[in-house]
Order: sequence, then C-alpha cells, then structure tokens
Amino acid sequence: MPTNSEILHSDRTHTCGELSDVHLGERVILKGWVDTRRDLGGVIFVDLRDRYGLTQIVFSPQDNPAAHEHADRLRSEYVISVTGSVALRSEDTINPNISTGTVEVRVEDLLILSASDPLPFTISTHTQKSKLASEDLRLRYRYLDLRRSEFQQKIILRHQVYQVIHRYFDEQGFLEIETPTLMKSTPEGARDYLVPSRVHPGSFYALPQSPQTYKQLLMVGGLDKYVQIVKCFRDEDLRADRQPEFTQIDVEMAFATEDMVYAVTEGLMIALWKEVLGVEIASPFLRLSYQDAMWIYGSDKPDLRFDLHICNLTSVFENSGFRVFDQTLANGGSVLGLVIPNFGDKGRGYMDRLDKSVVRKQIGAGGLIHVRIPSDGSAPNCSVKTHVLPESFITSAIHTSGAQTGDLLLILCGVWPTVQQQMGALRLHMAHELGCIDESSWKFAWITDFPLFEWDPQSQSYSSMHHPFTSPKVDDIKTLAEDPAHVQARAYDIVLNGMEIGGGSIRIHDPEVQRQVFSLLNIPEQEQIDRFGFLLEALCYGAPPHGGIAMGLDRIVMLLSNSASLREVIAFPKTQSAQEPMSGTPSDVEPARLSELHIQSVPTPE
Ligand code: AMO
Repeated sequence: MPTNSEILHSDRTHTCGELSDVHLGERVILKGWVDTRRDLGGVIFVDLRDRYGLTQIVFSPQDNPAAHEHADRLRSEYVISVTGSVALRSEDTINPNISTGTVEVRVEDLLILSASDPLPFTISTHTQKSKLASEDLRLRYRYLDLRRSEFQQKIILRHQVYQVIHRYFDEQGFLEIETPTLMKSTPEGARDYLVPSRVHPGSFYALPQSPQTYKQLLMVGGLDKYVQIVKCFRDEDLRADRQPEFTQIDVEMAFATEDMVYAVTEGLMIALWKEVLGVEIASPFLRLSYQDAMWIYGSDKPDLRFDLHICNLTSVFENSGFRVFDQTLANGGSVLGLVIPNFGDKGRGYMDRLDKSVVRKQIGAGGLIHVRIPSDGSAPNCSVKTHVLPESFITSAIHTSGAQTGDLLLILCGVWPTVQQQMGALRLHMAHELGCIDESSWKFAWITDFPLFEWDPQSQSYSSMHHPFTSPKVDDIKTLAEDPAHVQARAYDIVLNGMEIGGGSIRIHDPEVQRQVFSLLNIPEQEQIDRFGFLLEALCYGAPPHGGIAMGLDRIVMLLSNSASLREVIAFPKTQSAQEPMSGTPSDVEPARLSELHIQSVPTPE
C-alpha cells in the first residue's frame, strides 16, 4: 500500500474528465477539488473536480474503513489526492450529461492536500447560472470564480484564440515584435495612464494607448510585416465592451493598401471562426461607406443581423407646415423613417411608453412621431393630427418608406449625426423587442470612407476621427488646407454583429503632410516637435508607404464565447470604475515613495 507521502508525490494518472468504461478495473490516482459531497447511508460520494471535468469518487467502509472515516472531514473545495480502482456506477447513479458519467472510483487511499474555509459563495458545477452570487462578490474572490467550469471554458477558448493568431501570422510571414510599455504618449482619443520617472524629476512615461508610433517606426526600420498581441491602456469611461487595460492584435505592413489589410484581417477571422467554433465564414466581407452606414443603419458599427433599414424622408416633408419639421429642415436637419413590418395592433399605451421611456429618456430624442397602417385596411393613423400635418404628407411618407398594411412607420427629426444615431438606437431597440435578431449569425462588415476630421463645436477645433497618423485619401491631399471638413481618410473599421472589433488605416508617410495634419489639429509647431519630433524625423529617412490595423482581442473572444461583457473573458478584469476589488487596486502609496518619485499629492477640491 502506498504511503501518504508517495500519493502526495506521485503524478495523477488521469484527470477528472478522462475516465470511462475503457478504464474499468484500473488503479488510478486522481487529484482535484471537492465539488460536492453526499453521505448516503454510510457511503460517501464526492464529485471530484478539476479543469477537465468531474469524476464521482466513492468512500465505502467495505473498501477502506480508514479512508471512509477520513472522508467524513471533507468539505467543499478541499483539495485531495485519491487512489482507487475504476468501477461501473450503479444504474441509478449513471449521469449521461458528463463524459465520466458511467464510472466511479472506489477509493482506497485519501490524502487531504489542502483544506478550505467555508466559501463566500457556492461555485459548485451544479450551481445554476441564475443562482450565481453577485458579480461584485465574485470579482472580490476572482480566484474562486475562476474555478467555475463555464469560466474556465472561456479562458481555454481565449488560449485557443492566441494559438490561432500566432500560427496564422507566422504562416503569413509576419514577425512578432515587442514594443515598449513605458513610452511617450500616443494619442488614441483617451487619457493616458502616466508613470512618473524617479531618475528624471517631473518627467513621466505614458502607458501605451496603442503601440501606434512604434509600429510605424518598425516599418521605417524595414521589418515589413509586424504583429503583436499587446496590452493597451486607456483612461476613459468604461462600458461592458471597454476595459481600461485590454489586448489588441496589432498589425502593420509596409507597402500596404487597404485591400491587403482587408485580406489579412479577413483571413484571420476565417481561421479563428473555423478553428475555434468550427464555423465557415464567407469572404470578402461586406463594405459599407461611413455615410451609408450612418444613413441606413444609424451607426458606424451597424448590427446587420436583421433587416430594418432607415429611410430618408427629408424631401417628403419639405414645406409641410408642421413647425417641428420646418424648423429642423431650416437648420439643415433631416426627417428619418423606420418601417417596422407586421407590427400588429399594439395599443396606445405601448406607443406612449415607446415615446416617453425609450425615445425621450433612453435615446435622448425630442419625441417620436408614428404612423400605423392598420391590418384591417382602414385609413393610416398618424400620431400628429391632420390639421397640424396634412394627410398628403403622411401618404407620401408611407409611399416613400415602402410601409405596407399592418406596418408601423416611426419618424424622428433632427440634425446630423445626432438624429441618425438616435434612429440607429431605436432600430436596435425595436429589433431586440421584436426578437428579430438572428443570434446564430455572424455579420462582418468593413466601414470605409470615414472623414479625416471631426469638428468639435465646444473647442471650436478639429479632432482626428481615427488618429493623427491616418492618411487622407490621395485625391484629397491637395484640398487638405482649404476644405478639411470634406477630406476623407484612408481609414477603416471592422464590425461584427454591431460591435467594432478592429480599426486601422493607411498612414501618412510624407513628413510634410504629417506636419500639415498636426497643424490642422491645432498642434503648434513647437508642440509637434516636442511630442512627435521623433516620428517626423523618421519619416524623412526613407519611410515606406505603410498601413495596418488593430483588433480588439477581448472583444473577439467575448463574441466567440457568447459573453455579455469583457469581464467574462479576462482573468482579472477591472470594474466599471476601473478598480480591481480582489487586490484593492488602485491603492494609496506611502508618502516616502511619492517623494522618491518627486510627486506631491494634493487634496481633490470639494
Ligand atoms: P482603435 O483605437 O480603434 O485603433 O483600437 C483598435 C481596437 O481595439 C479595441 N478597443 C478596446 N477594447 C477594449 N477596451 C477598450 N477600452 C478598447 N479600446 C479599443 C476595439 C478597437 O476596434 N492604433 C489604432 C489601430 C491602427 O490604426 O492600426 C488603434 O488603437 O476593438
């Protein structure tokens, strides 16, 4: 008989997900966590768990009285090592839902490797999803939550994603190159996380919002195909699809065109979906201009899994005499319609709730106008009375929108791009409410032809729609100075099922154009030199044309694993308020450490 020390030091012969009828009679060593323990008339049954599965182990006084007595001490999440022999389960305990469901291990020796205090919440495999503890509590004890099989499957899927990425880019001749984490600020539209320098008082490193400038410098350095799975850090408002530190699949290619970037990216998506989910994705992906995406779907990341299209009713309502429309049109705004087919005969209460709680409160629009076209063939019924908005205009709107008997026509008005975005949000709301989203489909699309700049009325200046290194379209370079608002960018986003999963561009490789873009962004000459002098200089030494893309790895894993939030696919994520409750990050530091870093903490003004 092996001694305790021998069991402790011997390797497990199998995992808890491995045993089946073919192992009957074999002597095995298993190690794992006690998932559940049941005492049935003197025989103790334990479900032993590891990341591979569950195995039923049985302690009976007949097999080994000492082990049986010892098993009385076992509690949930104790870590144990057992030796025993594989036997068939009795008919009534067979579990067809697990791979090891026909067998059990009759234990001869038990060694408790580690005890566990009572848990703050149950994590047993048998815990139903609806009965899970609150996310706050689970984040506080993340290492316990990680033991749940559902969670482990997501982490395993993420691992598979890494492997496919490494293999795919290696086969395509890309080099994996690390870029610095302590670097100079790269603008990507968020605030930087700063790291003070001890040896250079008053100076700071920035954690990368992206490795954008370095990857461009790698192209100047002649390393013509770069890829990196890289952590990025952005101090911005967080949402379910945004973490302050997240992972990009960052790609750059010398001599790249848009089509080359699309081909490499689509190839990766096809490989990922095939190798991780066994799903065939068709290519090339749909391409939609930014303008079309906004006018037809009300979003630059449209969800294409359902067929509701926005229609432009602006010309229909010219000179309608309806004050709201007339004022909107006089301000250069638009009237948009959305047809909801076969809407049925939902009552007035429904429309009131849609107007007040959804359109005004959630979406922030001024109000909703609707036209019902009853299924019984009676006259269309508009929420604005005919003495305010004459019937002929409603008739034309129905005709232009293509609305049919039984449909509902929703109408919003306002200025670009707000009204488009509001209608886009209403489109999504209606699709969810009517359940017309095909949850099993994967709708990829490229969004192209973005404007280079966005006008910010608050600061009365332009900002980059992507980032300041994005090249204008070649034909637009000559009008850059005179008409920046109409310059288009060589930028593209890739979207999947309504989520932006990547973005990139062909870059500026001419230092003069780069200086001009910085100037249009209101960056004075000296500041251009201070912040980006190294890049401007590099562009003077034979910079090849180049371009690339960065994909959000966390978002891709979130979609592949059908998760509702990035927190479900990151082992140790941050909360919505950028904290990590388990370790208490961020935390205070001792005054001595601050003074070493030449930093003084000042109280926040009330
Ligand atoms: P961009 O800022 O569009 O481009 O980022 C690329 C992709 O990264 C993901 N992403 C995020 N994921 C989780 N949390 C966040 N806070 C977050 N922010 C962005 C998105 C996004 O599409 N340097 C450029 C790329 C380039 O031009 O090559 C860049 O970073 O999926």
